[in-house]
Amino acid sequence: MSTRITVNGESRMVDAAPDTPLLYVLRNDLGLNGPKYGCGLGQCGACAAIIGGNLVRTCSMPLRDVENDHVTTLEGLGSVENPHTLQKAFIAEQAAQCGYCTSGIIMAAKVLLDRNRNPDDEDIKNALADHLCRCGTHNRVVRAVRRAAV
Ligand code: FES
Repeated sequence: MSTRITVNGESRMVDAAPDTPLLYVLRNDLGLNGPKYGCGLGQCGACAAIIGGNLVRTCSMPLRDVENDHVTTLEGLGSVENPHTLQKAFIAEQAAQCGYCTSGIIMAAKVLLDRNRNPDDEDIKNALADHLCRCGTHNRVVRAVRRAAV
């Protein structure tokens, strides 16, 4: 079955079962590797993308629920040649260690900064509280989001 979704501003037809997790569609059908498979259970945040201004865990979102929606992944924020402010800040603060959680964290930070241009550390920690990072770069992540906000 074909489903139309818009990803990073581009309208795409996807031939997949309606109950296919959006994460699988993004990674396997559309070749977008920004969203990561972490837990597959909606608990770690590695797969996060933005739909309609809201953070979404794509591993737990069936394709049928995003038909005709606009999905933004990490690739939609910036590129190697032209990184987004958040991506520049994460690089400047060396806020990634293994980097597996970083995509989801940056997407959560994007939603935060879209809603609050001047968050304090508590706002940042609250916005990222549901994103698991096993490396422990938490302080650098908070600094990066603060840097991107100014
Ligand atoms: Fe989706 Fe963990 S992979 S929340």
